[in-house]
Amino acid sequence: MEIDFWLERWDNGQTGFHQQAVNPYLAYFYGEKGPAPEQRKALKVFVPLCGKSKDMLWLAQGGYQVFGVECSERAVKDFFEENALNYRHAARDEHALYLNDAGENKNLSSIEVYQGDFFSLKTDLFEDVSDVFDRASLIALPVDMRQQYADKMAYLLHRGTRILLVTLTYDQSQMGGPPFSVTEEEVNGLYAENFSVTKLCFKDIIDDEQRMKDRGLSSLVETVYKIVRL
Ligand SMILES: C[S@@+](CC[C@H](N)C(=O)[O-])C[C@H]1O[C@@H](n2cnc3c(N)ncnc32)[C@H](O)[C@@H]1O
Repeated sequence: MEIDFWLERWDNGQTGFHQQAVNPYLAYFYGEKGPAPEQRKALKVFVPLCGKSKDMLWLAQGGYQVFGVECSERAVKDFFEENALNYRHAARDEHALYLNDAGENKNLSSIEVYQGDFFSLKTDLFEDVSDVFDRASLIALPVDMRQQYADKMAYLLHRGTRILLVTLTYDQSQMGGPPFSVTEEEVNGLYAENFSVTKLCFKDIIDDEQRMKDRGLSSLVETVYKIVRL
């Protein structure tokens, strides 16, 4: 999936992947089961291929600093505008940086979103990134881009950084992606060299996903992993 594919989807309003509610795994592992509220302001969560995900708002409301990357200018502007957040905008390297007005709302931590290509990000932006939330990001990419994606993560993240990864697995002959089916075996293969991989939970969610049933799927398993940079 090249960037033009996604820009066209944003322009045509084909954003069925966008969710109105916070991701339940994020809410569980970074909410009640996560770091204590007083520890959160020291943590910065990177959200790759972030779209206009409400998860970023939830994280910032919960005290985490947020750093997203997204290629679509429309998605980034929609994120700030739909959530009624004042934002500033500046050019940085090949990216445009959007950030909320941190002084404006004392109950909201900083949110920075780089508008540009994930694959051109540099390590200097990752010095204080402690965590990554990957929902619909790895699985948005076709198989021939996924190793490049995992290798780029390894390049960007410093030792100890934790990734919460949510994948989908289904019979790829029943439906073309995105989202693509990514098996446990593939996740282990993609990350094994530079990360430890722990499977946290999995669930067949097909009965809650009418959109995917309509596209021909008979089973759709969501799996959550904790992946730590070695
Ligand atoms: C399936 S959507 C998921 C968005 C978000 N993670 C969510 O949960 O709503 C994938 C997103 O990645 C963006 N994207 C795709 N390739 C990208 C790249 N190379 N660099 C930055 N963003 C990219 C697309 O514009 C799209 O918004």
